[in-house]
Parts: sequence; C-alpha cells; structure tokens
Amino acid sequence: MALMPRKKRCKDVAVTSVYDCSLDGNSPVGKKVKFGDFGVFLVERRMGSSRRRFLTELAWKKGFRVEEQMSDLVTHVVAENNTGNEVLELLEKQHGICRDGFDAVLVDIAWFTESMGAERPLEVENRHRLQVSTEAVATSEAPISSYACQRRTTLRNKNMLFTEALKVLAESAELSESEGRYLAFSRASSILKSLPYTVTKMEDLQGIPNLGVHSRKVIKEILEDGTCSEVGNILQNERYHTLKRFASVFGVGVKTADKWFREGLRTVDELRASNGKLTKRQEAGLLYHNDLCVPVTRAEADWIKHIVERAVRRFLPDAIITLTGGFRRGKECGHDVDLLITHPDEGKEEGIIYQVVNWMTTKGLILYDDIMGNTSKGKSKEPEIFDHFEKCFSIFKLEKELVNNLGAETLSLCDPLAGNQTRGGGLTAATEASHQVTVVATGDKAWKAVRVDLVVAPFSQYAYALLGWTGSRLFERDLRRYAKHLKNMSLSSHSLFDNEQNIYLPATTEEEIFAHFGLEYIPPQERNA
Ligand code: UTP
Ligand code: MN
Repeated sequence: MALMPRKKRCKDVAVTSVYDCSLDGNSPVGKKVKFGDFGVFLVERRMGSSRRRFLTELAWKKGFRVEEQMSDLVTHVVAENNTGNEVLELLEKQHGICRDGFDAVLVDIAWFTESMGAERPLEVENRHRLQVSTEAVATSEAPISSYACQRRTTLRNKNMLFTEALKVLAESAELSESEGRYLAFSRASSILKSLPYTVTKMEDLQGIPNLGVHSRKVIKEILEDGTCSEVGNILQNERYHTLKRFASVFGVGVKTADKWFREGLRTVDELRASNGKLTKRQEAGLLYHNDLCVPVTRAEADWIKHIVERAVRRFLPDAIITLTGGFRRGKECGHDVDLLITHPDEGKEEGIIYQVVNWMTTKGLILYDDIMGNTSKGKSKEPEIFDHFEKCFSIFKLEKELVNNLGAETLSLCDPLAGNQTRGGGLTAATEASHQVTVVATGDKAWKAVRVDLVVAPFSQYAYALLGWTGSRLFERDLRRYAKHLKNMSLSSHSLFDNEQNIYLPATTEEEIFAHFGLEYIPPQERNA
C-alpha cells in the first residue's frame, strides 16, 4: 500500500510537538527535514532509551521527523520486539491514546532500518506491519469498540447535551481546517451517541475509548456547570457563524467561505450583492439558498424517489432505485435526498443518468444539474475519497401541491410524470391521506427547491455503493479504517480488495461485506455514528 502523506498534520495538531522547529523545516540536529509529511514515533519498550536515542538521531540525520511524544503528527509508530496488541495497550496506558485516537500505522523496526538504508520512508509492506489480533481487541478491557462499525448507534441519542457541544467544537475545527481535532471531537461525540445510558458523572466514562483529554474536559465542565465555556465562546464567534453560513451554500467549501469572510463579507445577501466570481454550482446554491436551508422531510424524499423511479423506468423498466443516505438510516429529515440506481443486467445502466436528467429537465422537474460521467480508469485497489460512479448533483423543483396532497399509500397510485391530467386528478383524490406532509416552500411560490444526489452503480458494485452511500460519514470512515488497519483490506464504494490474497472480494449484499470483515452485521438504522 502507498504511504499516506498527511499534509494537514503539520499545521493542525491536537498535541503540540516538542520539536516544533521541525515543522519549519529544521531538525534538532541541524539537518533539513526532508520528509515533513511523515512523523515517526519510536516505542521505547524493549528498545531501551539509549538505543531509542541513537535511532532518533539517526533518523533526524536522514531527514526524517521524529516525535518524542505520541501525537497527531505521528504517521508511523515503530516498535521492536512488540506485537501490535502490546503497542496498542502501551499507547493507551502510557499516552492515554486509545487505538482509535490515531491514524498512524504500526510497523516493525525492520521498516525503520530499511527506510534509513534507503534514505527515504519506504512503502509499508505486509511484513512490516505489526499484527493486531481482533480477538484480543474484542475481549480487551473496554467492552465498547473504538470503531464505529463495531457499535450500534441508533437515532436515540441519550447524551445530546454533550454531543451537541462536541459537535460545535468539531465544526469549529473543521472550519479551521484542523482535521485531527475535527476527527477527535467527532469520534468523542460519536461514542457518546452509542451509549445506552446518559452520562451523569465522570465515572460513567470509565473504559470508554475515543475520549481524549480535551473532550473529557468538555464533558466534565458540562457536568459541573451545565455548559462549556469554550463552546460558549465559539457560539459568540462571528467567524464561526459566518463560515458556517457560507459553507452551507451548495457548492461552497471551507476555503471559499474563509476567503469571503476575509474579504469582509458576512451575510448571504452581501454575497449575492458582491458580484464576485462564482461557479455555476455556487450560483445555483445562492439562487435557491432559502429553500435549501429548509430540511427535506421523509415524505418529500419518498416523493422524489417516486419521481425518479418513474423517470428511470421509462428507459429501463427493471431498474432498481434505492433511497440511501440519512433517510435509509431512519432519519425523519435531511439536507438532501440520496438515490442509488442500478440494473440487474450489468451494462444497461451506462449512460442512463443523461437520459433521465434530460427527460426530467424537459418536464420542468430539475432546476440545476451537474452530471459526472463514469470517471474510473479501471478498478483501483487503493480506496479513494471520491467514487467514480456516473452521478448527478442536482436541485429538484418539488411542487408543493403534489406532496401536500400525498399519502404514503398513494405514492404508487399517482404518477407525477404522466402529464397534467393525471397529475391534477390523481392527486386531489388523495387529500384525505393520513400521511399529511408539508412542502415548506419559502415565499409564495408553489414549489420548493430540493438537493438531490443521483448515483448510478453497475450491479456487481451495487452492494458496495449502497454501503458507501448509506453513511453515516463517520461509520464509513471507520469501516474503511477497520478494513485497512485490522484486515489489510481496501474498501471503497466500488469494491473490497484483500491486500494479502491480492484479490477482490465480491458481494451482492451488505451482509456479505460485513461477513468479509468478520464483523457482525449492523443494519442501516444502527449506523448513525
Ligand atoms: P450526505 O452528505 O447526504 O449525508 O451523504 P447524510 O447522512 O445523508 O446526511 P443528510 O441528512 O443528508 O444531512 C450520505 C452518504 O453518502 C456518502 C457519504 O458516505 C455519506 O455518508 N457520500 C456522499 C459519498 O460517498 N460521496 C459523496 O460525494 C457524498
Ligand atoms: Mn443525504
């Protein structure tokens, strides 16, 4: 597997490095740091302090960065004559870092000496990796796993007081592009969401992983004072609110939001008036911003699924359309609607996105679309952040009347695409329906703009796509991490590759994918990590 340079680590650290000078490019031995993206931590146990000192100096001389303490700056934990489980136990005991608190890879001294010989950080091969036995992890002291994919997290959060505070801290870190801190707070919040009880005293947190010093401090303060001063300060902070506001505009990321803030812009109206250069997506995001801020309801999502189903089946009668994302996990509302499309005859789904979107556009159902063709250049065994499916990030025009007059049971009876006659007649009959919902269209208009993601997966990749698009984001992240660290497998929304056997592991259902990992199956409603 390839080495993973972690560019952000250097500036975004949760724990300050004692060798901060190295971040400026100089090592304590006066040599230039050549491989700043890599941070080595040498485990002293069984290595001894003098040998550790010697190896530390050697590494600095070769242009490596060596961390005295375990921290987010570490990418490679190097140990001699220790098993992976021993190292994990040690890190937890001595450094208070649970196995979930870091992303670094655990390697044997062989990797270190070979890298010194080669004068560069070598790729970590299987033989370099310290084996971590899952049995030991499962039966270790902490009964709660540090991996979200080994926990059941429903929507019934018993620790909202703490998770909301930690969420603010996570958001604030994200808006400062501090990935390490963002993850630490997100993981802390996630573990609390999975607890079957409400935390009322610090002792309730005993043995619970993923709670770093900072997160524990926040929880303690809330237990004592009812609030957390740091969170209070963030909530008073103009930059936090402004960046959050800007980043909530479809098509706007943190960098752009920050740029606008620095230019003195504060409100969406100011942004509209500023005549700055915008992408097409941002233009649409601004145009429909008021609607897009209003949560999408379950009924609206069902209705959009119905519309898409009808549209797709015009071209492919046997196509399968599935509601994924938060709604599949049981959420009552969301920020968008995620739909996955496939067809049992693999190949038939190719290009369908263009036909469907074109057709819906001519019917006036789509306000904005951005179609991406299949971007895969053959299967890659390295998981990537983005998938390569044919997809469309769109904004739908949802008629208020349609959904207001819609009962769940009428979904299959009426066809929004069958022309005006059916549309009027078929729907007014359904006003008595029990499942009354409201399309919250802002202003006086008769429709609401709704964000919809359409994703097309070939049938053989459907199970992986479904798993990948169901979320939650943290659940997905931990599944991939679990695959990589504990199984030496690479998981993506397309496939699962076993790096040891050098083969792809096919799956037709999500259950089969969990089985490939030896994990207990977690249904979507329990993936709200
Ligand atoms: P969403 O961002 O829609 O999250 O992505 P959500 O859980 O449905 O939350 P709300 O309710 O809309 O706010 C859904 C899942 O799809 C995957 C992510 O893993 C996420 O968990 N996804 C999303 C991708 O794989 N790629 C993308 O480009 C977007
Ligand atoms: Mn979603």
